[in-house]
Amino acid sequence: MLEEEYDKSRRRVPRHLRRQPETEHPFAYEIRPAVRTDMPHVREIYNYYVTNSIATLDEKKWSHQQWFDKFDFLQKISLPFLVAVSPSGQILGYGLVAPWTGTSGYRYTVENSIYLGHAATGKGLGRALLEALIAACEELGIREMVAVISDKGAEASVALHERLGFVEVGRMGRVGFKFGRSIGTIYLQKHLVGRKKRSLFGRRAR
Ligand SMILES: CC(C)(COP(=O)(O)OP(=O)(O)OC[C@H]1O[C@@H](n2cnc3c(N)ncnc32)[C@H](O)[C@@H]1OP(=O)(O)O)[C@@H](O)C(=O)NCCC(=O)NCCS
Repeated sequence: MLEEEYDKSRRRVPRHLRRQPETEHPFAYEIRPAVRTDMPHVREIYNYYVTNSIATLDEKKWSHQQWFDKFDFLQKISLPFLVAVSPSGQILGYGLVAPWTGTSGYRYTVENSIYLGHAATGKGLGRALLEALIAACEELGIREMVAVISDKGAEASVALHERLGFVEVGRMGRVGFKFGRSIGTIYLQKHLVGRKKRSLFGRRAR
């Protein structure tokens, strides 16, 4: 029997048992304001970078209480804290802004912070979260947004901010120390176009 004839005579696997071609799942997410019950997931994302990277110079993992306190504080002063959620409800990443220092004279300025779960990086989510933060801050009348980024291994973060109009305004060398080596910081800043007069710390804008 020829090989082709042998193949033809073989029984065929029924359609429902045949291996289906792998379908590519699109990277889908929704961005929404964080709620208190998101904090354990936010903590898990952040603590990965505390342990494994110099994206943050925190050296000790944050506790649940620290995240609950941060959430409550940002809620109290009405600053945006956003999460990106997958269709199955998994928290993929978060973005927040906090007052730039606690001093009242800096009340129109915030510092941003965006962290994605490792598997969610490099797919445009960082950009989407930062765009949403900028829009939310403009709505609130915030005037300046600052990003403080490590000067080593942070190409994605620098690129992300520059793409959205942040401009490098300075560097400080060796101000940080983690994993046995000195780290500098890069400062990027973006002027926001406020829509509403608003300031932090409950004072009216002039
Ligand atoms: C930094 C971070 C938020 C960026 O988010 P991301 O989803 O990975 O980045 P995006 O896919 O949205 O990319 C944003 C832009 O940066 C560019 N970019 C991304 N990674 C890059 C890299 N390694 N080198 C150069 N450019 C890069 C992209 O091409 C994109 O530009 P485009 O919109 O013109 O195509 C994310 O990688 C992350 O969470 N990293 C770890 C934590 C961290 O460093 N947080 C920042 C602390 S300040």
